[in-house]
Amino acid sequence: MQNDRKSSSNLASSTITSQAIGVFDSGVGGLTTVRKLVNMLPNERVIYFGDTARVPYGNKTAATVSAYTCECVEFLLEREVKVVIIACNTASALAMEAVQRISPVPVVGVITPAAEAALRSSRSGRIGIIGTRATVQSGAYQATIKNILEKQGLERDVEINVEINVEIIAEACPLFVPFAEEGWHYHPATRLVAEEYLAPLKIANIDTLILGCTHYPMLTDVIQDVLPNVRLINSGEEAVGVADAILHEQGIHAQERSLHRIVDCYISDKSTAFMSVAERFLGFPLGMAQEVRLKKW
Ligand code: DGL
Repeated sequence: MQNDRKSSSNLASSTITSQAIGVFDSGVGGLTTVRKLVNMLPNERVIYFGDTARVPYGNKTAATVSAYTCECVEFLLEREVKVVIIACNTASALAMEAVQRISPVPVVGVITPAAEAALRSSRSGRIGIIGTRATVQSGAYQATIKNILEKQGLERDVEINVEINVEIIAEACPLFVPFAEEGWHYHPATRLVAEEYLAPLKIANIDTLILGCTHYPMLTDVIQDVLPNVRLINSGEEAVGVADAILHEQGIHAQERSLHRIVDCYISDKSTAFMSVAERFLGFPLGMAQEVRLKKW
């Protein structure tokens, strides 16, 4: 069962406040989460790792995604981050437990925060989920929603609007990833593909949709256009909210704005397109991204 949080009692020390928040993604997409993080927690420093050499994760097996994710998270842990956010939905769906086993610091995935937000938002109980094939097929979102409903509010106070009659409609939208990277946010081809992918969700009359992939916030306008009365849940933003709550609980928020670079970006392969896509996803200049070779490959 998903459990996207891990507490660590011995973290509350004053030196920890200045440590960075580690953000992991399979590639460039997690920068949409960093964009939210920098807006919501402007004092915090971020160390980002994008596994650009091995992206996409969305069509790989659980064992592979788990092994890759743990290796990348170890890189962040070596840099003494105080919290790890797994921005990648596929990794959150398939590798959370493995990451929690190796991490001495709290780990926040996107699945539970987004599932909770969807349950808070929905009035009708008809909730849509879109993501990569691996995320949708894992059933992680579906299982987490069910789990929250079963033990309503035991772990955290989730104010749920809907009664037990929750209906979940999940659709894989793999083509959204290249369209978002291509910058085709308003392209007619994207609109056509969105209509095709989102038709079952429209027919099911959902009132809430989880954007269960790092890239989908870049296509918010077209998705909202196809599903005009549906509340969209940005899974990365919800995860940042949970990380914020953990920093608060443990008293380890950064006290002042860092004089260092705000986002230190590491990637496992530097393609020519990376920087322009990264800066578009991030919404501000990144400056540089450092290529690193991971030990095990
Ligand atoms: N970052 C992945 C996710 O959020 C999308 C890209 C990939 O398939 O690796 O699921």
